[in-house]
Amino acid sequence: MDIIVKRDYDEMSRCAAEHIAALIRKKPDCVIGFATGATPIGTYRELVRIYNEEGLDFSNVKTFNLDEYLGISMDLSKPYILDQSYRRFMHEELFKHININEENINIPDGLARDPEEECLKYEEKIKEAGGIDLQILGIGGNGHWAFNEPGSSFDSRTRVIKLNEQTLNDNYEAFYKKAGIPREKMPHYAITMGIGTILEAKSVLMLANGAKKAEIVAKALEGPVTTMVTASSIQIFKGKATVILDGEAASMLVKQTIK
Ligand code: GLP
Repeated sequence: MDIIVKRDYDEMSRCAAEHIAALIRKKPDCVIGFATGATPIGTYRELVRIYNEEGLDFSNVKTFNLDEYLGISMDLSKPYILDQSYRRFMHEELFKHININEENINIPDGLARDPEEECLKYEEKIKEAGGIDLQILGIGGNGHWAFNEPGSSFDSRTRVIKLNEQTLNDNYEAFYKKAGIPREKMPHYAITMGIGTILEAKSVLMLANGAKKAEIVAKALEGPVTTMVTASSIQIFKGKATVILDGEAASMLVKQTIK
């Protein structure tokens, strides 16, 4: 595992975007797994800059997002702040700014009539695409990857999951509070790729920033490998794992590698 520590959020974001851009240049039809949350926003902004200024070509890139809330989907009739779907997040933060082909975008459908079937179909689509070349990941406050809450097994696949209290609180803070939506109206379930699905990617890129993440980052990267911190599965990942942190998120790591 390569752990790269950058001085601040902007440097972390530039480094992450460069990592992704390098893959796209090398393999223009690569398959990228995207993540949502506040952490990758700077990375996506930087990718948009590279697209505008250096002509990075996304036209043949295929994408698979990690997860989506159950019960919502992109709704362009609402203002962004009231549309909390991850599909909308990706549209606003990245996809609408670059030359990605709509047909190449895959995000679980939060409004699927049969969510179980949607999960199976999602797994099939990943297989048909030849697997994920690079999966981008953040880390939740409770150590989750995507929505793989504590206790999710390392061979779990794409499935419907109940969000735990900490995740509801974290995500309520991050999104819903701003929109003035009551907490009980927030979706309590989501469709998430499983840890087993994520571990089949050829490479992963995990990002974290801020002092709030320092303790959980240290647990995930240097603590025991446990399903109670699903991001700790990075320690048994067989492909190439890269972690890019800012100084604050890295501050509780024993191993300090400054690049
Ligand atoms: C959500 C997402 C995760 C993400 C996490 C952290 O729970 N499902 O994929 O890693 O939030 O978000 P943030 O980057 O805002 O801390």
